[in-house]
Amino acid sequence: MMLNLLGPFPLLLVLLGSWEPVHPLDDWAQSSVTVQTFMLRHLRPRPVNCQTAMPRVNLQDKRCKPKNTFLHDSLDNVVATCLLPNRTCRKGQYNCHQSANCIGMTYCCRTGGTYPNCRYSTTPQNQLYLHCFL
Ligand SMILES: *[C@@H]1O[C@H](CO)[C@@H](O)[C@H](O)[C@H]1NC(C)=O
Repeated sequence: MMLNLLGPFPLLLVLLGSWEPVHPLDDWAQSSVTVQTFMLRHLRPRPVNCQTAMPRVNLQDKRCKPKNTFLHDSLDNVVATCLLPNRTCRKGQYNCHQSANCIGMTYCCRTGGTYPNCRYSTTPQNQLYLHCFL
């Protein structure tokens, strides 16, 4: 299941998370992330505890991913937001997109441990901006 879900926009969508705090570039380096992988890494229907949500993400690469953002929204809304005109991000990049409504997120940051016993802090957020890679 590749990104032809995007219909007339057959471009790769890799969304790294909200516009602040800064998100890692490691997803970006992978040029063929599928929708399923994107959803596994970045979409959950409701707020999560990072300690219980991150093991599934970490299983893919068998390491403690340093940071990760889960968006609590539908894939459709995320894609729709990323297809809106771009706005300049705080740090000067051009790939921020303002959503119609604030999007609930959970920001996970590694606090220690070694794989598979990674430890994370959990920070709920509400953000108006998404940082998208198209
Ligand atoms: C949108 O992105 C382009 C480059 O991709 C940039 O030149 C332009 O300034 C950006 N627009 C805004 C409002 O940041």
